[in-house]
Order: sequence, then C-alpha cells, then structure tokens
Amino acid sequence: MNYEEVMKLALERGFYFPSCEVYSDASAGFWEYGPSGVGLKNKFLELWRRELIRRDGMMEIDGSQIMSKSVFEASGHLGNFADPIIKCTKCNSTFRADRTIAEIANIEIPESADLNEFDNAIIENKIKCPKCKGDFGTTKKFNMMFKVGIGPQEEEAYLRPETCQSIFVDFPRLFKTMRGKLPLGIAQVGKSFRNEIAPRQSLLRLREFYQAEIEVFCNPGRLNEVEKFAEIENTVIRVQTDTEPISMTCKEALETGAVPNKFVAYYLGILTEFYEKTGIDISKSRFRKLGDKEKAFYAEVAFDFEVETTIGWLELVACNYRADYDLSSHAKMSKEKFEVMDNDEKVLPHVFEISMGIDRSLYTILEHSLKNDEEHERMVLSLKPYLSPVHVGILSLVKKDGLKEKTDEIFINIKRKFDAFLDHSGAIGRRYRRLDEIGAPFAITVDHQTLEDNTVTIRKRDSMEQSRVNISEIDSILLESVAFP
Ligand code: GLY
Repeated sequence: MNYEEVMKLALERGFYFPSCEVYSDASAGFWEYGPSGVGLKNKFLELWRRELIRRDGMMEIDGSQIMSKSVFEASGHLGNFADPIIKCTKCNSTFRADRTIAEIANIEIPESADLNEFDNAIIENKIKCPKCKGDFGTTKKFNMMFKVGIGPQEEEAYLRPETCQSIFVDFPRLFKTMRGKLPLGIAQVGKSFRNEIAPRQSLLRLREFYQAEIEVFCNPGRLNEVEKFAEIENTVIRVQTDTEPISMTCKEALETGAVPNKFVAYYLGILTEFYEKTGIDISKSRFRKLGDKEKAFYAEVAFDFEVETTIGWLELVACNYRADYDLSSHAKMSKEKFEVMDNDEKVLPHVFEISMGIDRSLYTILEHSLKNDEEHERMVLSLKPYLSPVHVGILSLVKKDGLKEKTDEIFINIKRKFDAFLDHSGAIGRRYRRLDEIGAPFAITVDHQTLEDNTVTIRKRDSMEQSRVNISEIDSILLESVAFP
C-alpha cells in the first residue's frame, strides 16, 4: 500500500500521530507512537536483540541523551555535522540547498559537497525561491545539533545526534569491566536529535527519532579471521555495485570484491537475515556502497541498507566502517587510553557500525505488510504474528446470556501471557476488520455454544478461516503461532 494509506492506518489505529497536535505552535518533525505503534516497536526491538545482539554475543548499554561539548568536539559533530542551507534575500525563507536544487532543477549534489557547487548550480539553473521567486544568498552551513544549557550557568552541552557516541566514550570501561575480547559488539537503543531544516513525511524525517546502533570493535589486522562467517556464507544479500542491485551469497560478495572483507560480509549477512524476519520484502532491498561525497565525515567505507517503498528507496540502516576515527579522536581529546590487548597485541580497535533507523524501519514494515483484500472488502495488516501489537482479540458474540462473563474469564486467563484485546461491542464483522487492521493474527469469539461445550471460534487473520477449539487449547495454539522464530 502507499504512503497515504499507511498514514491513514497510523492515525486511525493508534500507530503514530503528530506530537502536541492540539496546539497550533506544535513544531514539525515530532511524532508520538500510540499503543499499536509501541507494541510493534517493542517487538521489533525484541527481534533485533534476538537476531543481532544475542546471536553475536554483543552487550547493550543505555547512555545519556545529553552529552558534553567535548564529546562533540572530539567526534567532529561541532565542526562537520551541518547541512547546506540557502536563504531567500526577499522573504527570508530557508531551504536545504541540496533538496531545493534536486526538486527544482533535478540535479543531485551530495549534501557534503563544497558550498560553491550549490552556488554554481543555483546561478547556472536560475533557481529562485519557491515561495516568492526572490533570489537566494550564498549557501551556508547549518549545524544540526540541538544545544542545551546545563544548570544556572547554562554550561554548553548537546542532545546527541547519534546514540553511538556514548558507546565510544564508554568503551575503555566496558572492555575492562565486562572482560571484553575483540571483536566486541556494543549496542544501544534510544533517541537521537537532529535539528532538520525540513522535517517531512511523518516517521521518515524526524527531529527526534529512535536509533538502534551497534558498534563492533575489531582488530583491523584480523578482518578476514571470522569463524562465524560459515553461518552466513550462503545467505543471499542484494548488493548494488553498479546501476542495479544484484542478488549474491555473502561468499560471492566477498569473492567478487563487492564487500571488502569477511567481517563486513558477516554483518551484512546477519542484518539481512534479521530484516527478512521482520516481514520486509528482501527482494526490494539493496546494500548501496556510498561514494566519497555521500559518506558521513567519519566513515571510511559505507553501505546503506535501503528498501524500496512507494515513495522511493528508503535508507533504513547505515553500515559504516569508521576505522579508528572515533577512538583516536576521543583518546586525543580526553587523554584517556583507548588501546586494548588482542591476545598479545596492543591495538587501537577499528569500528564497524550498523546504525539502524527504527522509525523508518517500522514505516517500511507497515507499508510492506498492509494489503487491500478487495475480495473481502477489507484492509489487512499481515504482520509477522510475533510483531503484531495484539496477538489475539477476545470477542463476545453478544453481551447478554452470560457470554460477557465467559469472555471476560477467558481474557483474564490469557492477558498476562499474550497481548490480548477484549471487545464486547459492535457488529462482529466490524470488530474483525479492526483487528485485521492492527495486524492481530487471531480472533476468538465466544458464543452460546461456548456455554454448552467450552469451545470457541478461532479466526485466522490472513485466511479468515474459522475453526472450533476447546478453551483449554487456546494457550498452546497462541504460544506456537506468536513465538519468535
Ligand atoms: N551513527 C551513524 C548515524 O547516526 O547515522
């Protein structure tokens, strides 16, 4: 389904909606997750933990969202984390230079290009302000970090623009106290903040957003000594080396040089296996190697994991080989030691990063899972059962004749084991449709026969097939179907 249909579902079924929406001064780029969105997000993260963190034996931390100025001096964000902007000399409206040029003149200039490249494109293509047709001034850099003042002295600090900086700063302590051994993955889930010039498309460009980041610390001399490579050597990934993405096994990607070493190939493999389990259509994915001008300033090699949607290719994960950029900068700035022992060798570890945008991933899951079942005149959110915000709806056919009480009893018995939704009112067909739209894989209906023989009707979301089962079987049916793979 397309962006508008997903948006309608999100607003009407409690997935997400604009923040502070009752006030006219609400800023763009801030969105809230409702109960269905939180359910989906929590389960997505549980899958992420299973398929990446636990699978690879990584550790997870939970760091501060506000960090000191020194962190971002060392990380380079104070100097480099800026977008090119242009301001109209007539109406003072501000735009992102790269996007405005792309939209008006259809010319792609990477955001990190020299500022005069934007100025030249504006002059050569006679680009004017889209609002008032005024002239633009020269392109400037706009730092995207939110500055905050700590305490009465308003000491300068920043909301983190990426979660990973605490992983780098905490690395020496974690390696020592948690008995680390290279390669070592450290992960974190949390909010990051970027003062986007033009936030748009709900979850796709936010000013406050969720990341799930993994930083794998490794010995740069041992990037082809990866025992676990055998686990994924036959996993098919899609890599775009030229114009079109090509499906190849991780082994082929390594042999053809599409990926630089076994270490990177292994993580691209397990990342693909994870996304396959989210229900995203992997045949619409690609790892796209970024050119020098597209890469973030800290990346030596970068692959974006992108997925095709109705509004184009979306970057869901940035896979950056950051080398020793971060650890050497923090070592220099803080004067702490960041080298560690790898067997008998003293090394300053290199970092491979898997930086996942959670909000965009959830949008893509919703878009790839939402189906219009024309035959039955319904919308169905065919989520993987283990990702569904509601596992099962518990419905009474009618409220009278003791059916309400029996339904409540069933609900009470299962509500702590499964995500169950109790619904007594409305036409049964409409109640099924609502459950289909929030992706509940099952609906259980209690009717008059239930009182006679202790059986209920269980309806499956995708096939709409209905069967009668004994109440005592409900637990095992649900357990088997909604368990994580
Ligand atoms: N840490 C990489 C990113 O935020 O894109």
